[in-house]
Amino acid sequence: MYLGLDLGTSGLRAILTDEAGAVQAEAEAAFEVAHPHPGWSEQDPADWIDACRSTVAALKAKAPTAFAGLKGIGLSGHMHGATLLDAQDGVLRPCILWNDTRSTREAAELDAMPGLREITGNIVFPGFTAPKLAWVARHEPEVFARVAKVLLPKDYLRLWLTGEHISDMSDSAGTAWLDVGARDWSGTALSASGMRRDQMPELVEGAAPGGTLRPALLADWGLSAPVIVAGGAGDNAAAACGIGALGEGNGFVSLGTSGVLMVGRDRYAPDPGSAVHSFCHSVPDRWYQMGVILAATDSLNWLSRTLGESPGALSAPLPEAATGPGRLTFLPYLSGERTPHNDTGIRGAFIGLDVAMGRTELTRAVMEGVSFALRDSLEALKGTGARFDTLFAVGGGARSRFWLSSLASTLDLPLSIPAGSELGAAMGAARLAICAVTGAGPEEVMTQPATGDVIPPDRTLTPAYEDAYHRYRALYPALSALG
Ligand code: XUL
Repeated sequence: MYLGLDLGTSGLRAILTDEAGAVQAEAEAAFEVAHPHPGWSEQDPADWIDACRSTVAALKAKAPTAFAGLKGIGLSGHMHGATLLDAQDGVLRPCILWNDTRSTREAAELDAMPGLREITGNIVFPGFTAPKLAWVARHEPEVFARVAKVLLPKDYLRLWLTGEHISDMSDSAGTAWLDVGARDWSGTALSASGMRRDQMPELVEGAAPGGTLRPALLADWGLSAPVIVAGGAGDNAAAACGIGALGEGNGFVSLGTSGVLMVGRDRYAPDPGSAVHSFCHSVPDRWYQMGVILAATDSLNWLSRTLGESPGALSAPLPEAATGPGRLTFLPYLSGERTPHNDTGIRGAFIGLDVAMGRTELTRAVMEGVSFALRDSLEALKGTGARFDTLFAVGGGARSRFWLSSLASTLDLPLSIPAGSELGAAMGAARLAICAVTGAGPEEVMTQPATGDVIPPDRTLTPAYEDAYHRYRALYPALSALG
């Protein structure tokens, strides 16, 4: 039996699965994000441990016999977070999360350093870990002076599980301290933000062992055989493992809080200027690339809160198949944007409002605006030579057929809807644990799910979506110029 733990931004999801990937039990525990100042986003790492204790207890209660056969644990987690520890592994301050924008200035300073983009393969985005440490050095020097280790969120959970400081390649690639091509910490990148190698965890590949469960927890959980904890992965790489997107041409588009267009790569082909993210995959000798937009379903949820109608009720009047772009254009920059603009200051807009328009037109424009933003990511990814052979659509927004239909025509790519229930990052984490324990090859374990429906682009409409996309493209510079 294998335990997949996905430490999400709003909670921990835990699944217990057998070696064939059949889910025996699942459990979730929610926790909060604190926003003590505008642009700040923090979590108390103690909440992650509480969530781990309670989900494991729930799994044990639901499936005691299966739980007794636990052999391996896989970890997935939200990326980029800075968990700062003192020499006794005490937490020095709340973890600064991926969607925290306080370190915009420090990110720009690091990004301007010659050679850093070449080493890390990426823009130093304000969401990444290195600028957060530069911010702490500037604003909380007494905390910075006591930092003995920096751990990513899922690796803090591992520290509690195993007592060891270990991370994997895919998550570490999002720190701006890793040489992403060489899959090792870079002394140059570390010293750029005043950090040292001894403050970093040891690195392992995601599908390799990365610690064993502490004897005290083994006893608490009623287990006797050793339990291996796999290297694990950042949540997007773990989701890719869950859906079998390992190699060239295999990817997914995720309509979650943020939107992600991800594709596996057999080679390392960074293109930092386009604001594409180029990270190590969680299996050896592979990388992946993605465009990240900060507000996908977050945009629809904002509209839903504002109009006092659920997202489901808002989208109910829309047809199943898209009929061409509407006249109203939405720019989804509600929290700034990563790909392709790397602009924390930009904000969203509706352009073309008409007195005859109502909530349905606004809803449609929001879905189309998110689709255009993902088209921006597609163009950036294609610029690196990436191919898109299979693109699975995942995330809460993928429940809307209208949204998928207009997205397929905007991207001019068919979207596959995966069949089967559990394919997310928790399953990807469990699959990494299966590899770490059994030594099975990732390709054998991380297979693609059966495809349910395929939503094709409508070639009679793609020219109209193409025109609308070009109008959308012209609006960012105009909006940006307004300041
Ligand atoms: C990726 C990113 C997010 C987080 C949150 O670069 O910032 O997708 O991993 O889940």
